[in-house]
Amino acid sequence: MKNIVLTGFMGTGKTVVSKALAKDLNMTYVSTDDLVEVASGRSIKDIFAEKGEAYFREKEKKVIQDVCEHIDQIIDAGGGAVLDPENMKCLKKNGIVVCLWADPEVILERTRKNNHRPLLSVDDPKRKVQELLEERKASYEHADFHVDTTMGDITIVVDKVIKMAGPGGLANLETGRGAFTLGLWELLLNNLLQNSESSVMITDKNGKVVFANKRYLEYFHMSSEKIMNKNWIDVIVPDWAREKVEAMLGEVKGANNACQFEIPVSIQNTKKRYFCWVSSPLQDKEHAYVMFAGQPDREMRNRFVDVHPATTEDMVDIIFASSIKNEPGTARHSLRVTSFAVALARETKMKEKDVENLRFAALLHDIGKLAIDEEILFKKGKLSEQEFDEIKKHPGWGVEMLKPVSFLDYVLPVMMSHHENFDGTGYPDGLKGDEIPYEARILAVADIYEALTADRPYRRAFSKEESIVIMEESKGKKLDPMLVDIFLDMVKRGRLGGDVKWNGYADKDAM
Ligand code: S3P
Repeated sequence: MKNIVLTGFMGTGKTVVSKALAKDLNMTYVSTDDLVEVASGRSIKDIFAEKGEAYFREKEKKVIQDVCEHIDQIIDAGGGAVLDPENMKCLKKNGIVVCLWADPEVILERTRKNNHRPLLSVDDPKRKVQELLEERKASYEHADFHVDTTMGDITIVVDKVIKMAGPGGLANLETGRGAFTLGLWELLLNNLLQNSESSVMITDKNGKVVFANKRYLEYFHMSSEKIMNKNWIDVIVPDWAREKVEAMLGEVKGANNACQFEIPVSIQNTKKRYFCWVSSPLQDKEHAYVMFAGQPDREMRNRFVDVHPATTEDMVDIIFASSIKNEPGTARHSLRVTSFAVALARETKMKEKDVENLRFAALLHDIGKLAIDEEILFKKGKLSEQEFDEIKKHPGWGVEMLKPVSFLDYVLPVMMSHHENFDGTGYPDGLKGDEIPYEARILAVADIYEALTADRPYRRAFSKEESIVIMEESKGKKLDPMLVDIFLDMVKRGRLGGDVKWNGYADKDAM
């Protein structure tokens, strides 16, 4: 079994998690810090004090090179071990690198309690933590997986690491249909929730917060400590609104479905804002939770809006918003594709209900790219065949991601087939002509036209005229000739309007 390497900032819990993992998986625990101490005959503190950091890094590198020759180990790598790209490469050779992270406030508290780290033995450790985190962010991003330990529950963290990097975990998974695992879904969900443009919190049935994402903490100017395990009404709802909000929440908690409601919130007890929340009930084996995803009400309507059922559109908006921060290019592309696809569908007299479904499919069609390695996804130069094979997995990943979302069933075949070519040369299934779902053929036309008319990192956008010529050439090859004719006719008549409704997040330049 490959090594599992735990990295991440000081105080994120690498040692505790590594030891627990080694026990659970019956693998050998190895600590790079311990080995450096043995090799130098001094404690880390003394090495830094007597020999300096450069000497420590040199020893650390040597230790990593030795350790990486072996397998079946849980490697507890010091917080700075992966800053050197050669070390990261070496650790990845025989191992899966998992980066732990935690809220800076929590890191500070943990490292203060356990103050043996020379790098944090300074006058202003808070500042030092912030500086180092900023400096190291980019290096940590190269890890294979990331796990948040802010909540401090070791068993949950260990369980997650095993699902990602353990035997049969995500790292060993071949992307493809039917490859859905809980590990994947959890990983993506965590990614989506953490990076969402919406403020997301999850509360238990008493309203105590058990999860708050980055956006939430930023928006309400709050540390996770301040909100975690507290009743959110106490923290962000102004006193004068309390009674009414509590009454609304009673309804939300009683509902089996997603609900939408609008309430006043206070930010640092001063600024008054209205916030629009969509809530969804969540249930695990024993407990009931509610997830709230919210956005400020841009119109500042200054009123309560009662609880009413959330629409599919609200839910799709939230899923889509979640992909924005992670991959802004895809989000912008998807908005334009949606606009073109909807316009083309209407021109072919598609029923309004089906147009609505196509809109969701178009918005979400590339969401599977979240599962593709960023180094490949954002690579500027030409992709190797192997890399392109990875990219080709994104329709399948998207399907895996949305499979558990039952109200999106109809989106799946469209998403799966949006890279099929009319002549049968596309992927993943090599479908031909009308074997390809009609909506997917519309999406393909919109997708290609968008790609042609947008700037790419490696080339400028083609003009309208150039794009028309290229589209003409793909008739009957990549694209359905009938749909291309209708579409190009619209392009020539200037009938491609911005048709995307998106709660204020639409990138205006994308239209
Ligand atoms: C360091 C982290 C420490 C130790 C050394 C340097 C760092 O390990 O290797 O003090 O540069 O972040 P832990 O992260 O296990 O505390």
